[in-house]
Amino acid sequence: MSDLSAGDQLPRITIPPPGPESRRLAATLSRYESPNVTFVDDELPIFWREALGANVLDVDGNIYVDLCAGFGVAAAGHRAPRVTEAVKRQLDLLAHGMGDVHPPEIKVRALERLAEIAPGDLSQAVLSSSGSEAVESALKTARLASGRPGVLSFRGAYHGLTYGTLAVTDGEFFRAPFEDQLGIPVARVPFPDPYRPDPELALGDDLLGSTLQAVAEELDADDRIGAIIVEPILGRGGIVVPPDGFLRGLREECDRRDLVLIFDEVYTGLGRTGRWFACQHEDVVPDIICVGKALSGALPFSACIGRPEVMAAWPPSTGEAFHTSTFLGHPLGCAAALAHIDEIEAAGLVERSARLGAAALARLEKLRSRVRHIGDVRGRGLLAAIELVREPGARPDPERAARVVKRALQAGLILLAGDGVIELSPPLTITEEQLDFALSTLEDCLARA
Ligand SMILES: Cc1ncc(COP(=O)(O)O)c(C=O)c1O
Repeated sequence: MSDLSAGDQLPRITIPPPGPESRRLAATLSRYESPNVTFVDDELPIFWREALGANVLDVDGNIYVDLCAGFGVAAAGHRAPRVTEAVKRQLDLLAHGMGDVHPPEIKVRALERLAEIAPGDLSQAVLSSSGSEAVESALKTARLASGRPGVLSFRGAYHGLTYGTLAVTDGEFFRAPFEDQLGIPVARVPFPDPYRPDPELALGDDLLGSTLQAVAEELDADDRIGAIIVEPILGRGGIVVPPDGFLRGLREECDRRDLVLIFDEVYTGLGRTGRWFACQHEDVVPDIICVGKALSGALPFSACIGRPEVMAAWPPSTGEAFHTSTFLGHPLGCAAALAHIDEIEAAGLVERSARLGAAALARLEKLRSRVRHIGDVRGRGLLAAIELVREPGARPDPERAARVVKRALQAGLILLAGDGVIELSPPLTITEEQLDFALSTLEDCLARA
């Protein structure tokens, strides 16, 4: 019997992580994996052996609560029974098909289901395996539909690291080594961050107005731009919730200028923010939406879903599609996605995300008033951020955030931090007891760090 089969548990740390088995594996990994992939030091990583619900069991027998749902994937929890069963059933029937030639029958059901849950009239999709690939499909669609090569994207944006997506992703760190190979003309505008507005925006107190004005100016200045790509809530860039009206303003700008509007909901989609899609908080429908991560809840599976008029820019296949891949419409990914969507719906996880998220944020707000190194807390649904600062009003403090993450791991919490911001994106099934324990432990780690 597995150590996790008892179900939803609080952490149980018996050997300070990383334990001896994790350390042994780290040493072997460092010999055989390219050095830029897994970060290894004296305190990281732990190696996962098993996961169930919001729990993870490491190779040394420690049990953790996963506060990031494995990069936002396991919305219905790790190894959600409905998903696991569906994948096993599919595996017994067909483990691989011929996606764009003789497709697996389940691909048709997956496409129909995506059209059902997608906002507005978005109903035609290109399937793929990773979030980056979904964004690649969106960028190519926008090129075909607009006839123009350029894209407007936002500072702090993360759309993936493949060459097409890297062009619209922001950040020196990712881009600098490959800058001379990035071909798409890109205009960049500061993302409207209410806590830390970009000094480039002519502010006054109208963050929304000055951001939309900056967008308009960039579009006026460069007639090569045919699309705007945006995360409705900035994800890896610090979980930044823009002011209300931002998405609507972009929609209006795209309508006025006949541009393609792409919402990258790879992180925010499928209930994470308390709506099926984050754009539904503003009731704005893009021309294309990208989903990945929590779409399948487990397997590599993603989609770029567009309005039929926009997708009509792709010519019918002549027997040779000019955008496809070997694993497109993979039957196991389709089975997982169908089951995961059903589970999110049946278990009311979108509403649960909104309810638990609001309570967690209220608690974090209180904590902010007590801990001087917390600059800001923010989020929507079960997607939340705690920004740590050196002093009240000062710059973000990445070292402190990294310390909190390491301390939290010792206490049995799996967390991510980037650029001074601790990110919370637990499974939407996390129990109230687990969440309460996690927040208390985190409070303690924050107070001590
Ligand atoms: C908003 C967003 N878009 C795209 C991606 C890229 O997805 P993947 O890592 O699956 O390629 C990510 C990954 O974190 C993301 O957060």
